[in-house]
Amino acid sequence: MTVHALLLPIVQVEDQSPGDRMGAQRAAAREALRRCALIGGAPEHGWCQDKRSAPLPLEGFHWSISHKRRLAAAVIAKVSVGIDVEEVKPRRNRMLFDEVGSEREWNLLGERSWPGFFELWTAKEATLKANGVGIGKLAECCVVKRGRDGRLVTEYAGEGLWRVERIEHNGHVAAIALPHDSVCDVEWHVG
Ligand SMILES: CC(C)(COP(=O)(O)OP(=O)(O)OC[C@H]1O[C@@H](n2cnc3c(N)ncnc32)[C@H](O)[C@@H]1OP(=O)(O)O)[C@@H](O)C(=O)NCCC(=O)NCCS
Repeated sequence: MTVHALLLPIVQVEDQSPGDRMGAQRAAAREALRRCALIGGAPEHGWCQDKRSAPLPLEGFHWSISHKRRLAAAVIAKVSVGIDVEEVKPRRNRMLFDEVGSEREWNLLGERSWPGFFELWTAKEATLKANGVGIGKLAECCVVKRGRDGRLVTEYAGEGLWRVERIEHNGHVAAIALPHDSVCDVEWHVG
């Protein structure tokens, strides 16, 4: 089974209000979802969310979106799935390294660095989204190992393992979390 994921660059508009900018981001993520559906043979429209904004499966297809200022992303799969995209940009607060990752996790990731931080962060956020929960549950998600293929493996709420697929694109990193035992290849598309 192939899981399709699509990254869609967002064209920047001068002097946009924060509200308009967020509206454009959200629209871009939905356009990415529509294009992804066309590629993967899923319904083009009809994707709905529950009261907490978690995506509801449609005709057996699970989906997830993420949107940042310059990049939107979407993924559709026949199994539970979550996606997160972040711009890899150093922050002032290096304490974030320890807030997001334990000593054990940093030993798996390597030296504390901003690329490492965003790899860890997107892996965890994609896992949370695949479980239909938000950042409030961050403490229940951890990275348990890095596979021989280089992929991170996460665990949520001590219940199950997730494998993380990632791609770097134009100063961003995107991560997808899929059930660890699912047999599927991820195909990334841009635009
Ligand atoms: C879900 C969450 C982790 C997303 O993080 P983010 O980096 O800000 O945003 P992203 O662009 O990566 O993802 C946003 C998308 O996640 C999806 N999403 C929202 N809640 C979700 C959930 N519970 N499960 C799965 N996906 C969810 C939505 O599709 C949303 O896009 P939309 O608002 O345009 O529909 C975060 O919004 C969160 O923790 N939400 C729940 C708690 C909350 O609402 N807190 C707000 C104040 S603390």
